[in-house]
Amino acid sequence: MRLTTLAAALSVFVVASADAKTVLITGSNSGIGLEFAKQYASKGWDVIATHRRSAAPESLSALHGQYPNLIHIETMDVTNHEQIDALATKLEGTAIDVLISNAGITGDFRNPAPQSFGTLDYDQWENFMRINALGGLKVAEAFVNHVKASEDKTIVSISSLAGTFGFKGPTMPGGYWYKSSKATLNMYVKVIASDLKKDGVIIASLSPGQVKVEKMGDVSFPGLIEPQESISGMISVIEGLTLEDSGTLFSYDGSQHPF
Ligand SMILES: NC(=O)c1ccc[n+]([C@@H]2O[C@H](COP(=O)([O-])OP(=O)(O)OC[C@H]3O[C@@H](n4cnc5c(N)ncnc54)[C@H](OP(=O)(O)O)[C@@H]3O)[C@@H](O)[C@H]2O)c1
Repeated sequence: MRLTTLAAALSVFVVASADAKTVLITGSNSGIGLEFAKQYASKGWDVIATHRRSAAPESLSALHGQYPNLIHIETMDVTNHEQIDALATKLEGTAIDVLISNAGITGDFRNPAPQSFGTLDYDQWENFMRINALGGLKVAEAFVNHVKASEDKTIVSISSLAGTFGFKGPTMPGGYWYKSSKATLNMYVKVIASDLKKDGVIIASLSPGQVKVEKMGDVSFPGLIEPQESISGMISVIEGLTLEDSGTLFSYDGSQHPF
């Protein structure tokens, strides 16, 4: 039995030890964020699982039921700067080893028109930028002292190869707002890396691959992977990051990509 599976089976007995590490995850109630929360809890980490809903989402309540001592549910809409600052204040004194900026939107892939040349809906651009790009920037700024106080001092932003010039593989057609917001996020990561190198803080962009999350329903296409594979790969990448890697982009399989 793999170690993570064994830990999951025994999850009810998993209690954070005094020297347990802490991860904060944005947008953790579904898809990639939820799987990060599950896998870090199964490793015995303290998980600050944030969401933007008016009440705790069922997915997180269920996970809290499984790991009552490890899962800490908090509300944080990454476009609401007051809410971000309030949570940072509430958590003052808590060291955050790994800060995962995961919250993001892709757009409705069943209706690509608003992000396709010729039918672009310009009103959508600001929403994409405020969530996918500015959200991660503001969260990094608000929680930087929590990260600096930790052992691992690591921030990662869940990005996409679709937001790079270097990627030559297939990406979704159009996707103007999604791709440009992820490209902006990648550039922020590069600039933050340079600003925080002196403090020993590592920040990297991570591409999760094409991951089959709940919102995709029964859609299937070649190359789609399960969340378990993507997230266990990204956790391995996070564990291997050094200061020399700061400001760069890795795929979940450990390959590094130019911007
Ligand atoms: N799945 C893929 O193949 C893939 C590929 C490349 C990159 N990504 C990136 O991976 C990240 C997670 O996406 P996913 O595929 O797991 O989709 P998902 O299941 O829709 O998860 C997105 C999460 O972000 C949250 N969110 C959206 N806007 C937010 C806001 N303003 N404040 C706080 N949380 C917010 C959502 O909350 P609600 O439930 O309340 O909407 C949800 O929890 C995104 O950044 C996405 O761009 C995914």
